[in-house]
Amino acid sequence: MRIYITGNRGQLGRALAKALERHTLSGCDLPELDITDGSELGASVASFAPDVIIHAAAWTDVDGCARNPEMAYRVNAVGTQNVALACAASDAPMLYVSTNEVFDGAATEPYREWDAPHPINPYGRSKAAGEWFVRHLLNRFLIVRTSWLYASGGRNFPHRMLEFAREVRDGQRETLSVVTDEVGNPTFAPDLASAIAALIDTSAYGVYHLTGTGYCSRYEFAREILRIGGYEDVPVAPLRLREFGRASSPPPFAPLANTAAASLGIALPTWQDALAQFLRPAS
Ligand SMILES: NC(=O)c1ccc[n+]([C@@H]2O[C@H](COP(=O)([O-])OP(=O)(O)OC[C@H]3O[C@@H](n4cnc5c(N)ncnc54)[C@H](OP(=O)(O)O)[C@@H]3O)[C@@H](O)[C@H]2O)c1
Repeated sequence: MRIYITGNRGQLGRALAKALERHTLSGCDLPELDITDGSELGASVASFAPDVIIHAAAWTDVDGCARNPEMAYRVNAVGTQNVALACAASDAPMLYVSTNEVFDGAATEPYREWDAPHPINPYGRSKAAGEWFVRHLLNRFLIVRTSWLYASGGRNFPHRMLEFAREVRDGQRETLSVVTDEVGNPTFAPDLASAIAALIDTSAYGVYHLTGTGYCSRYEFAREILRIGGYEDVPVAPLRLREFGRASSPPPFAPLANTAAASLGIALPTWQDALAQFLRPAS
């Protein structure tokens, strides 16, 4: 298959390139190609003539999106509209990577694929608008929602926690405080990439929730990162979201349940096993 990946230098983009290496790949990323430029993107996609396009590019800085919602909409919604139009022009199906932040987090059970999106912050709204364009412009699409992605080389929560723990131990930082009332599914990008590779092979178009299996609070995630990383002695102070001054308001309880992909035999390892694999020292 010929597969075009947007955002191919991001955390997930790099993992996808590895998981799909037996295919013929092309793609784009900043600064060479900006997905908000529809004509440049259209020309790049058309010249490659893909069998499928995976759209993983996004402005993922949620606090940046909260400070600049217009820019969030331009990249995550208009950029996605441009990718969908390029798919239509090439008669190729599209896989759009979306987020648990399309939900409001007021649930008491993990969200199912068919639950109605109701975003509560600019990042979530821009990604939900992207979903809307995909649904309305294409007949053949896969929307894959995920959450709390991490991989080596990326800017992510496990790396930040280990860095902060080191600073506490070295006396450069007084405490490490982490919120207890934001709940989601930690997801190792290479596991997600393998699941996406399996999903593409099925051509079973629709909406999917693909995350590490199980869920936890940011606080529980941090404790597990420190335990596996050898910083169990570093204390973690529990914090509430309302005490944590940040630009974006994340959905408090927004884990995703994998029902649709599981029915096809596609599921990711537990978040604890994936984290242990990620943090295991290289031998
Ligand atoms: N990270 C998470 O926790 C998370 C959770 C749920 C869903 N997702 C979704 O999963 C997908 C992949 O996320 P990720 O963690 O791999 O993100 P990432 O590491 O930030 O990668 C995204 C890539 O897209 C590029 N990009 C940004 N704006 C662009 C533009 N206008 N034109 C072309 N490329 C652009 C970025 O370049 P720069 O680095 O130069 O900006 C980056 O290389 C995204 O769709 C995201 O919304 C992520």
